[in-house]
Amino acid sequence: MRPANRTRNFGESTIREMTRLAIQHNAINLSQGFPDFDPPEAVLHAATGAILGGANQYTITWGHPALRQKLAEIYTRQLGWAVDPDQHITVTCGVTEGIAAAQMALLDPGDEIIILEPAHENFRPASIMVGAAPVAVPLEAPGYRLDPARIEAAITPRTRALLLNTPHNPTGRVFDDDEIAGVVELVLRHNLILFTDEIYDRILYDGRTHQSPGGLEALRDRTITVGGLGKSFAVTGWRLGYIISPASVAVAIRKIHDYMTICAPTPLQIAAAAALALPDSYYAEMTAAYHQRRDLMMGALEELGFVATLPQGAYYTMADYTQMDIPQAQWDSTRFAQWMTTEVGVAVVPGTSFYSLPGYGEQSIRFAFPKKLATLQAANERMMRMQNKGN
Ligand SMILES: Cc1ncc(COP(=O)(O)O)c(C=O)c1O
Repeated sequence: MRPANRTRNFGESTIREMTRLAIQHNAINLSQGFPDFDPPEAVLHAATGAILGGANQYTITWGHPALRQKLAEIYTRQLGWAVDPDQHITVTCGVTEGIAAAQMALLDPGDEIIILEPAHENFRPASIMVGAAPVAVPLEAPGYRLDPARIEAAITPRTRALLLNTPHNPTGRVFDDDEIAGVVELVLRHNLILFTDEIYDRILYDGRTHQSPGGLEALRDRTITVGGLGKSFAVTGWRLGYIISPASVAVAIRKIHDYMTICAPTPLQIAAAAALALPDSYYAEMTAAYHQRRDLMMGALEELGFVATLPQGAYYTMADYTQMDIPQAQWDSTRFAQWMTTEVGVAVVPGTSFYSLPGYGEQSIRFAFPKKLATLQAANERMMRMQNKGN
């Protein structure tokens, strides 16, 4: 049997590969972005309660009513328009399905979509699977700022869409008002669709608050807002995401979603509605805990000689290792990440895996820090022995 041609244009996920390597070598896994701590107890009880209470069959394809109702309340506030649970919301199996289903519903083969790199590694394959052509535009280290002129230079008559992820994986950037204004201007002038991935909208540092680009009036009818529960509630394995879109587009998105998956897991959607009903104090505590993790991670990396970007949101940092006083500092990022995993015992992701553009990401690795403080401390202790291993 010959695999279909579309599978030839992207490789296997490097992050999942690093996780496999971490397990094989008993390394502390700071590669894949998932917590090693439990979700809130109330959310766990809501899930088991839903299962034991009989909510074990398919639900409405575009989402359980209780979850859509809760999302409608939240996004009516967040977007500033009356988000209707029956018209504008589609619950998906994770943001991953959300981004793929939205592209499948809106892009035709041959359409171009601009993806800013470094990027979450699922974006590009999702476009390719649709038959669309991802066009990469780099954000330059160490600031990783959005550059509208650079984006505009990549726009052609076939460009249909731009995909924006904020807070951003892997850099931890939260794009500021000026940067967003530059993107908005381009989206409007070139009549583009804006897909946003806002999965980290609840994980922000130093008093920042999240602004959904789709909340800007001018973007209202051309933005597809995608979010999810996995990161905010430490339930990445539950596979819950959602798409907020104009009603006309929701019809197309829901058809794709239905024929791909029928529905997201019913009892977990019920638990998600309970999660979204948690009081504000939950988010305050979560943010405080992430601040601690970020600060511990950044302090440790600085001491070791990494030059790492201070995350403004999300739970990753891109760290340049080329100034370190070890021979490995001269290696490319794949070799360096593999060495960290197999010899140092701390799994990380090579910077190159976030780029399709050649020559980018060669000097950096990504650390994910959604981990218990004890895990981060143990990783730090292993890394402190790096100097000995390096020489
Ligand atoms: C920017 C971004 N989008 C989407 C995902 C995946 O989301 P989900 O697990 O909800 O599919 C991740 C996971 O790391 C991510 O970083």
